[in-house]
Formats: sequence, C-alpha cells, structure tokens
Amino acid sequence: MLNILGIGAGYVGGPTMAVIADKCPEHKVTVVDINAEKIAAWNSDHLPIFEPGLDALIERVRGRNLFFSTEIDEEIRKADLIFVSVNTPTKTYGQGAGLAADLMYWEKTARQIRANATGPKIVIEKSTVPVRTAVAMERILNEKDSPIHFDVLSCPEFLAEGTAIRDLEVPDRVLIGGRHDTDSGREAMKKLSDIFRHWVPEERIIHSNIWSAELSKLASNAFLAQRVSSINAISAICEKTEADINEVSRAIGLDQRIGPHFLKSSVGFGGSCFKKDLLNLVYLCQFYGLEEAAEYWMWVVKFNDHQMNRFVDRILKKMFNTINGKRIVLFGFAFKANTGDTRESPAIYVTKRLLEERAEVVVTDPRALDNARRDLEGMPVTFAEDPYEAVRGAHAIAVMTEWDLYRDLDYQRIYDVMEKPAFVFDGRNILDHKGLYEMGYHVFPIGKKALSHFDR
Ligand SMILES: NC(=O)c1ccc[n+]([C@@H]2O[C@H](COP(=O)([O-])OP(=O)(O)OC[C@H]3O[C@@H](n4cnc5c(N)ncnc54)[C@H](O)[C@@H]3O)[C@@H](O)[C@H]2O)c1
Repeated sequence: MLNILGIGAGYVGGPTMAVIADKCPEHKVTVVDINAEKIAAWNSDHLPIFEPGLDALIERVRGRNLFFSTEIDEEIRKADLIFVSVNTPTKTYGQGAGLAADLMYWEKTARQIRANATGPKIVIEKSTVPVRTAVAMERILNEKDSPIHFDVLSCPEFLAEGTAIRDLEVPDRVLIGGRHDTDSGREAMKKLSDIFRHWVPEERIIHSNIWSAELSKLASNAFLAQRVSSINAISAICEKTEADINEVSRAIGLDQRIGPHFLKSSVGFGGSCFKKDLLNLVYLCQFYGLEEAAEYWMWVVKFNDHQMNRFVDRILKKMFNTINGKRIVLFGFAFKANTGDTRESPAIYVTKRLLEERAEVVVTDPRALDNARRDLEGMPVTFAEDPYEAVRGAHAIAVMTEWDLYRDLDYQRIYDVMEKPAFVFDGRNILDHKGLYEMGYHVFPIGKKALSHFDR
C-alpha cells in the first residue's frame, strides 16, 4: 500500500487524484490545498468544479481511499509519492511579465516538501511548467546538506475540461519523464508506471527524458491552439467569399494527415491553458534567443485576439454602428461547454468590448454564472439563470458557449419577446441558421454567409 498525495485540488488535481484512487483501491490517496474553502467543497455535496461524471466518481471513492485535507505538512510527512498540480499562471510582474509562467506556487510547494519530509520521496510534476523546471525542483529538494533523496519526475496532464474523467480513464497516452541514468531515477519511473498500469495499457505508457516530457505538454497545447487560430483565419476569408467554414473544415479534416479535431471555427479559444502555455513557449523561445520562433507562436495568440475583435466589430457594424443602450444577451459564459470554468473565456473580452460601446449586457449560462459574477465584478452587467428571461426585450443574442441547451430552445418564443429587428450572432455555429432566418431573425454565423436581408 502506498500513501499518494496530491498537492493542489483544482481542475487537474481533484479529478486526477480521484481517478487514481478509483483505479488503485489498495493505495491511500489524499488531496491537499491551501484553499480551505475548496477542500470543504470537495468534502461536501457541492464540489468546487463541474465535470461530467465527477460527482458519481467522488461519491464512490471519497472516504474509502480518497481524502481531502488542509493538513499539508502532515500529509507530506506520510506520503511516498507526491503529485504536484498547483497553478502556474502567467507572470504579471518583473522579468517575463505577461509571458513567462509564474513558478511561485511551484517553488513554495517544493520548499514545503523539503521542510516536512522525513524520508525519501518521489515528486511528480503534474502542473504545466517550462522545460527544465525540474532542475530547479531537484536543486531545492536535494540541497547539499539534506540527508533525504528526492526523485523528480514529469508526468504532464493532458486532460481537457469537460471530458476530464474520460480523458483520465482512457488516456491517449501517459507520459512519464525521468532520469534513466540513475538507479533511483529508473526505480521512480517504474513506481509511477506501476500506478498507471492498473488501468492504462502498457503501450500507452510512454517513457522519455524529463525535458522532453516537460516540453511535450507545452508543445501539445501550442499545436492545438494553432489549429484553432488557423481555422479561424480561414473563417475570415469565408465570410468575404461565400465559402462555408463547415464545408471547408470537413474537407480539410477528411485528409488523414490532418484529421478532424480542433477544426471548429468559433469566436476564439479560451481556457486557462492555451494562452498561458503559448505565452510561456514564446518566452522560452525568447530566452534562448530564438526570436523568429517566438514571433511565430505569438501570432497564434494575436490571431485569437483578432478573432474576438472581429466578432464584436461585426456585431457593431451589423447593428447599424451603434449598440449604445441595446440589450445584448450572451448565451454562455464558460470558455467551452460542459465546464463552469471561465478562465480566459472569450466571453469576458467580448463583454468588456460591448460595455465600452455602452451596450446593456445580459449573461446567462447553465454552470458558469458564479464565475462570471466574479470575472465581471463591478461592471454593469445583468445575470440571468433562465435564458427565456434573459432575452426579454433584447436586441441581439450572441452565442458564446456551445452548450446543447442553446440548440434546443424555443426560438419562436424568444423571437416574440425580442426587440425587432432581432439579431443572432452565433459565435459557435451551433444553431439552425436557416430556421432562425425563416422566423425573422437576422443571423450572423462565423465563417458562413449571413442570413439577413440587411446584408445585401
Ligand atoms: N485546467 C486544465 O484543463 C489543465 C489541463 C492540463 C494541465 N493543467 C495544468 O495543471 C496546473 C493546475 O491547473 P488547474 O486548472 O488545476 O489550476 P487550479 O487553479 O484549478 O488549481 C490549482 C490549485 O493549487 C492550489 N495551490 C496553489 N499553491 C499551493 C500550495 N503551495 N499548496 C497547496 N495548494 C496550492 C490552489 O489553491 C488551487 O486550488 C497548471 O499548471 C495548469 O497549466 C491544467
């Protein structure tokens, strides 16, 4: 039996440790966090995050071999393996501000582990960190007068919010980076692999050197974000030429060398990882003097900002160049469907720009209203649980999140209570555009012909 500890009980730490506990009933798994409120929520019926399948999983394992606690020091003492999933946000101050990852939480955790450990431990990087972070970690942990030896491994997390449980239960791959050149390094990699062997087929557990593992995670997110920015760049041409982005995506995606994923055009990508990890990669390129590579990746971020701006510019232009006092309802605020997470959601940026134009903004979302309230604190925005209430007297609807709920609303009922002309700006291309047009709406999808007689 192993004592496994997870430090950081967020979107990664909570689900990851819960799946490990579920699949390895003989081990004891504990998750700690400095945020006592979050730990209390993990111990209650109202988990701090929404993730399909998470409630049932927690119900099954909590109190059996999964525990949530704030006793960080004591749990470090007891642990054999420590997974670190603390946040690594973009640095907002000093050198690298606005680009580099802030490793403050990481380093604090390393020092806390060293201060409390009374025996050797394996420390596993789960957080996304710049390549070569493990050196710093090893130096802090294995400082020269310390009698205790620590092995540091990198096991980056590839889960996506909204499908986290499935991604953890049936991962495309588990990547374990470590030191092959020492006995204890090889032993540590074996111990970690043994945990995943409980449910992950051998061929999907991949070993690499520690630097490749760290870089693979940043590179993987950069490639995914790049695809979104690429298809969005094509959407702009579609709108000018009557080519249809869905038809183009389909044609591209059927090419097996390219494949169909991440080719959905939208108002832009969001989430806590893509932008942060791209900026982090840009900073690494700059750090190593690779200016052109830095600029190349920076354009993926810039194009995303451009796509969000294009979306708002279009709203303004199509609504006769003024939205002052007009009621615009955002359908969805989460950065994507099936999560309540709003970090870096395009909806935040869109709201701010609409407010600059003095629009009256109403936000509705089935899971993200609490986070939206925090993001927009102090701003003159109205929040509505019920989309039918939200649209009363509205001039326009802007779809920001691809929740199924919005596909299935009664749009005739909505049309009847909206101001006319009634506009729909579908930032996710999920609605029945032709059907809406026939009801009388003026419909502006992304990368597709507008359905409005104003657009002739
Ligand atoms: N969210 C994702 O989809 C995702 C996917 C893969 C990887 N990642 C990476 O995983 C890491 C965590 O992301 P997240 O979304 O779970 O972040 P999060 O903000 O949801 O959770 C991080 C948690 O760590 C806690 N924490 C910070 N310092 C601590 C300390 N010293 N001791 C104990 N707890 C501490 C915070 O209170 C917070 O609850 C990041 O590096 C992120 O880039 C995230």
